[in-house]
Amino acid sequence: MNIAYTIAEARQAVRAARAQGRSVHLVPTMGALHEGHFSLIRAARGPNGFVVVSIFVNPTQFGPNEDFAKYPRPVEADLAGCRREGVDLVFMPAPEEMYPPGCRTVVHVSGLTETLCGPHRPGHFDGVATVVTKLFNIVQPDRAYFGQKDAQQAVIIRRMVADLDMPIEIVVCPIVRESDGLAMSSRNAYLSPAHRRQARCLSESLRLAEQMVRGGERRARPIVEAMRAHIVSAGPCEIDYVAAVDPETLQPVETIDRPCMFAIAVRIGSTRLIDNLVLDCL
Ligand code: PAJ
Repeated sequence: MNIAYTIAEARQAVRAARAQGRSVHLVPTMGALHEGHFSLIRAARGPNGFVVVSIFVNPTQFGPNEDFAKYPRPVEADLAGCRREGVDLVFMPAPEEMYPPGCRTVVHVSGLTETLCGPHRPGHFDGVATVVTKLFNIVQPDRAYFGQKDAQQAVIIRRMVADLDMPIEIVVCPIVRESDGLAMSSRNAYLSPAHRRQARCLSESLRLAEQMVRGGERRARPIVEAMRAHIVSAGPCEIDYVAAVDPETLQPVETIDRPCMFAIAVRIGSTRLIDNLVLDCL
């Protein structure tokens, strides 16, 4: 496995792979790799695939009061995981390599960034769209892999790639969960044992929504209210949103007569957790 610390090293390694006729598949991450990340890496492998994993805790997507400084950075374990999973190239640049003094350009995807997590994390999706554009320009992958866990991020990246004519296929992979239903996340490591138990309420409330829809409820409002009540009953927390939205436009859905995504963001203690469920076969 090759490790590139600079943009020049990454470009060089990708050039060599292309010269061998390999197809370049990128998995962008912020590290602290878990089974969710590994599922993307496995999807990215293939007979002819050259798998590039980027590990970069991107400062521009964290707000001033968010967890950039304490975000976990278990570099050795991440590299061991990448080796085990058959990754070809890890790109782990320093912040100064990605954002040298003087850089001023930001990629902004309007509309889709103004709902759900957008208002609660000002500037977050500009940081994501900008760093993903940079990673795409550095690696120039044929395909890039993202998780449905960050559903809004995936929708924004798809829109950006279409709008800016980036010749990259975006593949979105299913959410990987712990055995009790909690969606895997690098941030789960912040949870105390009590908060970890409480955190089950997110996936439970999504299952509740599914049951209600399967039981014939077609009005979003009573479903969202039942989800909220379930989350509140699990213990003290701060709900950023519980929403029923169109999975492509992210606009609110009132009547569930077409594919619908239930999406949640909740703060338990100081940890912000998100989860979602798309119901498309009604
Ligand atoms: P990070 O949170 O490290 O996630 C990297 C990728 O793994 C994302 O596409 C995310 O959706 C996916 N992922 C995380 N948890 C998952 C799970 N439980 N199941 C399936 N996929 C999961 O998302 C980011 O980093 C950053 O915003 C990034 C795109 C790298 C830009 O900085």
